[in-house]
Amino acid sequence: MQDWLHLKNKVIIVTGGETGIGNSIVKKLHSLSAKVVSADVNATAGITDDQILHVPCDVSKKESVDAMVRTAVDTFGKIDVLINNAGVARPELLVDVRGENPKYEASVDSFDFIFNINVKGVFLCTQAVVKQFLAQGNGGTIVNMSSESSMEGSAGQSIYAATKNAVNSFTRSWAKELGSQSIRVVAMAPGILEETSMRSPAYNEALAYTRNTSVDNLTPDYSKSIPLGRPGYLEEISDLAAYLASDRSSYITGTVVNITGGKSRG
Ligand SMILES: NC(=O)c1ccc[n+]([C@@H]2O[C@H](COP(=O)([O-])OP(=O)(O)OC[C@H]3O[C@@H](n4cnc5c(N)ncnc54)[C@H](O)[C@@H]3O)[C@@H](O)[C@H]2O)c1
Repeated sequence: MQDWLHLKNKVIIVTGGETGIGNSIVKKLHSLSAKVVSADVNATAGITDDQILHVPCDVSKKESVDAMVRTAVDTFGKIDVLINNAGVARPELLVDVRGENPKYEASVDSFDFIFNINVKGVFLCTQAVVKQFLAQGNGGTIVNMSSESSMEGSAGQSIYAATKNAVNSFTRSWAKELGSQSIRVVAMAPGILEETSMRSPAYNEALAYTRNTSVDNLTPDYSKSIPLGRPGYLEEISDLAAYLASDRSSYITGTVVNITGGKSRG
């Protein structure tokens, strides 16, 4: 059954592959015998015993992205799939209406930081990899990491949600531009998940302020807010990523797949 996806020897780049969802995707693809490249700003260069290639890469810098793609091709000879997973968030309000903590009011620095990684990074990585797909002449697949907040907005996460809606838009436009070259572009939009390193203590404090509550009260009653009554598991996201990366999803392109346990309000 493991072989149903036929990912053996597919070369797959996962950005932000060192922790969280990205790391779960790296492990899943590796377990399915793909050749995996983890491209992460916090990676230590080299191939580990399990044959995963780790490449330090800042997705927001063109030279860094181009060098990462060259390293992947030099090592494995080709690229079949890019998973644009690297992303960042900073809970901040547009305006600190209560006036109690201006440090949680959105700044130009935060705007640039989040857009540079979540939007420019997706653009740079996809452009570099699609050029390689075209040189190979055999199509390819791009899987973008969006978020449920992209569709519904999210209080205290307006910049982040806007970046993820930009990712949805890229997904639709690039699918139209590249379909004739057998290149698919899809996105997945997770809702609330088991916690990753994104939920640092500082993040939770900021989120609590932006939601006018305390850190202890941040976790809502999921039985009320999520039809399936629980957060998603990282493995559920990596299962979807593996399916979308595989030729089993060969007629899916230009769409954002919601993976939220039925939750639809950010
Ligand atoms: N965690 C969630 O609940 C959730 C929900 C919906 C969508 N997402 C999205 O999933 C993706 C992964 O989130 P996560 O929760 O695993 O986050 P995480 O913080 O645990 O992991 C993010 C990874 O990206 C890397 N990274 C950060 N900046 C980078 C850069 N400039 N270049 C290359 N790598 C960089 C980090 O080093 C880290 O390994 C993000 O795009 C996020 O927006 C997360």
